Amino acid sequence: MDPTGNKYREEHRRSLGDPEGFWLGAARAVEWTVPPTRAFDGSLAPAGRWFPDAELNTCFNALDRHVAAGHGGRPALIHDSAMTGVQRTYTYGELTELVARFAGVLRDQGVGRGDRVLIYMPMIPEAAIAMLAAARLGAIHSVVFGGFAAGELAVRLKDAAPKVVVTTSGGMEPGRLIEYLPTVHEALAKAEMERLPVIVKHRDGFAGLPGGLALNTVDWDAALAGAAPAAPVPVKATDPLYILYTSGTTGTPKGVVRDNGGHAVALLWSMANLYDIHAGDVWWTASDVGWVVGHSYIVYGPLLAGATTVMYEGKPVGTPDAGAFWRVIADHGVKALFTAPTALRAIRKVDPEAELLGRHDVGHLQTLFTAGERLDVDTYHWAGRVLDVPVVDHWWQTETGWAIVGNPRGLDPLPIKAGSPTLPMPGYDLRIVDGLGAEVAVGEEGNIVLRLPLPPGTLPTLWGDDQRFVDSYLGAFAGFYATGDSGYLDGDGYVFVMGRTDDVINVAGHRLSTGAIEQVVGTHAAVAECAVIGVADVLKGQKAVGYVVLKAGADIAPDDLEKELVALVRREIGPVADFKTAVVVDALPKTRSGKILRKTMRQIADRVDYTVPSTIEDRGVIDALIPVLTRR
Ligand code: COA
Ligand code: AMP
Repeated sequence: MDPTGNKYREEHRRSLGDPEGFWLGAARAVEWTVPPTRAFDGSLAPAGRWFPDAELNTCFNALDRHVAAGHGGRPALIHDSAMTGVQRTYTYGELTELVARFAGVLRDQGVGRGDRVLIYMPMIPEAAIAMLAAARLGAIHSVVFGGFAAGELAVRLKDAAPKVVVTTSGGMEPGRLIEYLPTVHEALAKAEMERLPVIVKHRDGFAGLPGGLALNTVDWDAALAGAAPAAPVPVKATDPLYILYTSGTTGTPKGVVRDNGGHAVALLWSMANLYDIHAGDVWWTASDVGWVVGHSYIVYGPLLAGATTVMYEGKPVGTPDAGAFWRVIADHGVKALFTAPTALRAIRKVDPEAELLGRHDVGHLQTLFTAGERLDVDTYHWAGRVLDVPVVDHWWQTETGWAIVGNPRGLDPLPIKAGSPTLPMPGYDLRIVDGLGAEVAVGEEGNIVLRLPLPPGTLPTLWGDDQRFVDSYLGAFAGFYATGDSGYLDGDGYVFVMGRTDDVINVAGHRLSTGAIEQVVGTHAAVAECAVIGVADVLKGQKAVGYVVLKAGADIAPDDLEKELVALVRREIGPVADFKTAVVVDALPKTRSGKILRKTMRQIADRVDYTVPSTIEDRGVIDALIPVLTRR
């Protein structure tokens, strides 16, 4: 260990000064069918491509390669379900065989290179198998988180235009079963794709489709039994591996595209150097395959590295208690855990002194990584105290696919500063700029931007929409990618990420768009206009709250309207929006050009300093709103 950070600084400097040399070096960790002769081609639209002349298969690198090296008997995936009480381990040999056969099932459904496969599944092994099987064929998967309802699923179906849907009977939330098939049915109808083949992994205990409804169903088990294994199909490094939809500022989600080559290179670099996880280590990411964290670090990262990945179906609390995480660490000898701060806060709330830790031997645990939202200082100290291991925050987003800022534990563990995810990772040239793009002084908050090109593994574009990619990320600051986050640097270059500059909010580590919620609320017959803002929440970081102006003559009691709006958002977006509060107000504060002052509303609700913009149309509106916004 070199606590001076010299090794880190040298690597970071080299990655920016000689990106070709640095990333071609990192690319040697991948087994290519055609190795790259150059790292980056900036002439390829819209913002350049990594490893433009190389070919590989990501599934081969994640599975077959380890079997061929004699590690077929090593555990690849441990599925631990706190919901069913079942644990199952798949070796690399077994997982390769299953994935190859499920790839055969997909191929029998006509799926080939470049086709899309939409996966709507909870945290069951078949979700990972389906992802890897699509990758094996050179197809493009798009996983949709199970907490999204039919409306969101339909939008993704329409945009990705898949050849097949892979799903299951349902998922399990504490105290209730989530029936997936009615949702899939409704979404397919909304998207006018009723005839699409739907491969269903049946799980016991679910009701299935109500009588009278039908899907073009293929039974997972029966199809698998009859399928011949499919071999990995080499694809171009620049071909998409997956599309993952994420919230933007508008109601329409953005289809973040991940390529095959850059992704494999970046994830392999990160497993070794950022997380210090190597072949044979046991690694657990407590997230969901529906999020980027699940894509990168439940499925691809650990398997590419030849490690053992734990896939957990359950919650940090209530399944059955706040010792669930400690139990999983002990049962499987987990070396490092990656989770969201909200999960730690949930545990702390129930078991403030982590007394349940005493029941489990967590001696294998060496590091706790967190991301998904800012690791607040209080939770950082609490987790470090109770677990007695380094607690390492790192900052990234769906778009980047891996850490922008982190603490490279495998390379050169840097001193941790509470509240900071530490320093930029290789390939990221990070600056803090004001609204006009000028760099701000040390300690001053501004927009966090990244000089182009972004490193391998980051998004090359948005699915089917290069222009939206350029407009969303590259338009605001010439030559830079706008992260949408604000923050500042301290004198040592440590980055402090403070929050979003747009209408994206973060609820329990889940990224949501207030614009999407507003769009749904606005469809209610009694609503003239509305503003949804994310207000600070002790447990979940933020919570979406709606402020609604009624149409003239609308005859509905505020409580009834709230109930209807909550139900509407739950039905259209899904329970994950966690939208529980809608308040009727007389008017919304606006600028003279009609823009609702959401930021000012949020600042007032969070009781932080605010300045009312001079462009406000009617100052009286905001004064009248203050008692409503600050009411708890
Ligand atoms: N399918 C269906 N419903 C789901 C769901 C899923 N996959 N995931 C969540 N929901 C539901 C919940 O049951 C809840 O429903 P309710 O309103 O009926 O209670 C609602 O969506 C809101 O869920 P959530 O905000 O997650 O609240 P919670 O009280 O169930 O759990 C935490 C709180 C903190 C324990 C939980 O959010 C958590 O573990 N967060 C970590 C997030 C994470 O890993 N993020 C990934 C980035 S690293
Ligand atoms: P997602 O795309 O869902 O991963 O969400 C990305 C957003 O979550 C970022 O743009 C940040 O706003 C926030 N975020 C994620 N990780 C962190 C972190 N470690 N610190 C601060 N904010 C974070």
